[in-house]
Amino acid sequence: MARLVVVSNRVPVPSAKGGTAAAGGLAVALEAALKSRGGLWFGWSGKTSGDREIEWLEIRDHGNVTYAVADLNRRDVDEYYTGFANRALWPLCHYRLDLTDFSRKDMAGYFRVNRSFARLLAPLLRPDDLIWVHDYHLIPLAAELRHMGVKNRIGFFHHIPWPPADVLSTLPVHDTIMRGLAAYDLVGFQTDYDVENFAGCMIREGFGKSLGHGWFESYGHKFQVGNFAIGIDTQTFVAMAEEGMKNSIVKRTCDSLRNCDLVIGVDRLDYSKGIGQRIEAFSRFCEMSPSAKGQVTFLQITPKSRSEVPEYAQMQRDIAELTGRVNGSLGDVDWTPIRYVNKTLGRGALAGLYRIAKAGLVTPLRDGMNLVAKEYVAAQDPTDPGVLVLSRFAGAAREMDGALIVNPYDVEATANAIGRAISMPVEARRERYNSMMPKLLEHDVAAWCRDFLDVLSANEEFEPEAGLR
Ligand code: F6P
Repeated sequence: MARLVVVSNRVPVPSAKGGTAAAGGLAVALEAALKSRGGLWFGWSGKTSGDREIEWLEIRDHGNVTYAVADLNRRDVDEYYTGFANRALWPLCHYRLDLTDFSRKDMAGYFRVNRSFARLLAPLLRPDDLIWVHDYHLIPLAAELRHMGVKNRIGFFHHIPWPPADVLSTLPVHDTIMRGLAAYDLVGFQTDYDVENFAGCMIREGFGKSLGHGWFESYGHKFQVGNFAIGIDTQTFVAMAEEGMKNSIVKRTCDSLRNCDLVIGVDRLDYSKGIGQRIEAFSRFCEMSPSAKGQVTFLQITPKSRSEVPEYAQMQRDIAELTGRVNGSLGDVDWTPIRYVNKTLGRGALAGLYRIAKAGLVTPLRDGMNLVAKEYVAAQDPTDPGVLVLSRFAGAAREMDGALIVNPYDVEATANAIGRAISMPVEARRERYNSMMPKLLEHDVAAWCRDFLDVLSANEEFEPEAGLR
């Protein structure tokens, strides 16, 4: 079997003692994928090292995975990560033109860092390696590797939404971004909507033509595009949730609830997650249901994220203020409606908290997939499961038909859905849970990885009949 080389912006290198660094959904998924197959994981260490140029790698073996990571200097972090990736591409892909801040300097930094990564990665590659690049930070990487003579098969997975042509074309260098994607052999998206949007950008903006069955030709290169919804390590998470009931944080939470029902939300502090609208909806629910007073508590766990980006720093202040206002006006001496926690909790504690929560609120304004939605369902007790309230704008809504699907911009409707979730009879809850769980077990992270890599390794030549899902 060919060696797998995974490239992602952040690489959670396990500590010398063997523990894993704190990781986001993507890192957890890739960790699970690499664990079973072994291979090389290349990317940024997450560390900023003064002014030093990126010219050396730290390489460490851990189990069957070799980690190769580079530090970035201050300027690279500012321009490549904070600037172009998180102030231009991120808001653009989440349809937030109002927050998109394009700068030519940042764009130059973005391409410079991708070139440096390609220069460091190329000498580590073997001729038959399968290379799998992840996330919007690294779109130009394949083109840079090709310039250096790398002939391996290279796939790209876009974890976040792909916008429609009208939105993408507001980015002054959108043609270079499209050209970067066309240099891959396979480009994967989370949903059929993202694939449609990408095809629209390709064809309507005149960058290439469709050859049918997911194949495109652009800039003289034929490549495949497909929909590969990411999954979670379902069985492991089920076991983690059962075990999580013994976790001290979960026990403390249970004790402190004193028979109050728990509603939970877990998100990075990001404007795409709809946290403000969700708090408004919970507040509205409390106003509409006098019996909720003292009987329901909403726990929103929100680790701080990308605080160096001004829009995130502003949001941090806005959410803290909103939470304070709602608690001040609705709370009582013995009841706090919203518990707002800016901490990163361990996955065991989170799994246990999901299990004790009667409702999970996953209401992003736009999201590629949202693995919290899948984890919340996987964590439930099958005999007495909680209810998932899910935004129609999360990729997960394309699969999770047992959730209460809401429009997060509609505060009133989301408030009603919270009420419905909390008071739903157990038979209806079980029915919803049973309609989702088999899919979560079947389309888990291992299946996602296998499906993508099977297509990547098979698509050597354009075959018009070789269709994708
Ligand atoms: O795909 C979204 C993503 O970029 C993931 O790579 C990552 O887990 C998450 O967002 C957090 O982002 P950051 O690395 O900027 O903290």
